Amino acid sequence: MRRPLIAGNWKMHLTHLEALTLVQQLSHELAGRDLDRVEVAVCPPFTSLRTVQTVIDSDNMEFSLGAQNVHYEEEGAYTGEVSPAMLKALRVRYVIVGHSERRELFGESDEIVARKARAAFGAGLVPIMCCGETEEEREAGATEDKVERQVTAALRGLRPQEASRMVVAYEPIWAIGTGRTATPADAQTTIATIRRLIGDAAGADVAGSVRILYGGSVKAGNAAALLSPDDIDGALVGGSSLEAGEFAAIVRASP
Ligand code: PGA
Repeated sequence: MRRPLIAGNWKMHLTHLEALTLVQQLSHELAGRDLDRVEVAVCPPFTSLRTVQTVIDSDNMEFSLGAQNVHYEEEGAYTGEVSPAMLKALRVRYVIVGHSERRELFGESDEIVARKARAAFGAGLVPIMCCGETEEEREAGATEDKVERQVTAALRGLRPQEASRMVVAYEPIWAIGTGRTATPADAQTTIATIRRLIGDAAGADVAGSVRILYGGSVKAGNAAALLSPDDIDGALVGGSSLEAGEFAAIVRASP
């Protein structure tokens, strides 16, 4: 059984003080919920990780902590970068790698994303590897080719026991921050394809274990439908994760 994961990607929002308020509000909203059944992760900017980690630990909140990016080297002269070990030391569990905003705005190639995924596992973190097509690629019928390239590149160099713990987030780029979503049926189709591609590359056991999330304009109002197909194991939530009530409603909508 794959445990559903609802992860909030806060992107470049909130000071550490605002982040503290948000995680406390979220804890209040989800008080009494059975979080054994569904895992909830928050991914604040680097500057808020320490603050959020401290309140999660001191108040025994059942949230996992994630970061939004990581460098692939262990240390060195990489001004402005953060290493996997630095995140691990803050009890970070997940790290988003290859988000389309990083691929498109910061030039991250499939190879760089693969190195980040490998480095994350090397330090005991779990990558949430994002993939997805642009609107033009979708219209040209190139969705499968695109996600295949992204997924197989990320799997290359991972050991089977790492690959099986990886989280993949399928995020159609045209659905991110636009209010448009894939239909549940389309999201299920592409996510089932991703699972088949993982099976081809890494075997059926890995494919059966990898959690694959949908991302792109998930809200309280569409979450139940988007989260119900069999192959969809949760959501990566951007805008709606910045509002505690809305994000908690998405968590509650998880089947
Ligand atoms: P969105 O972002 O929910 O605001 O569309 C999702 C993401 O970029 O992970």
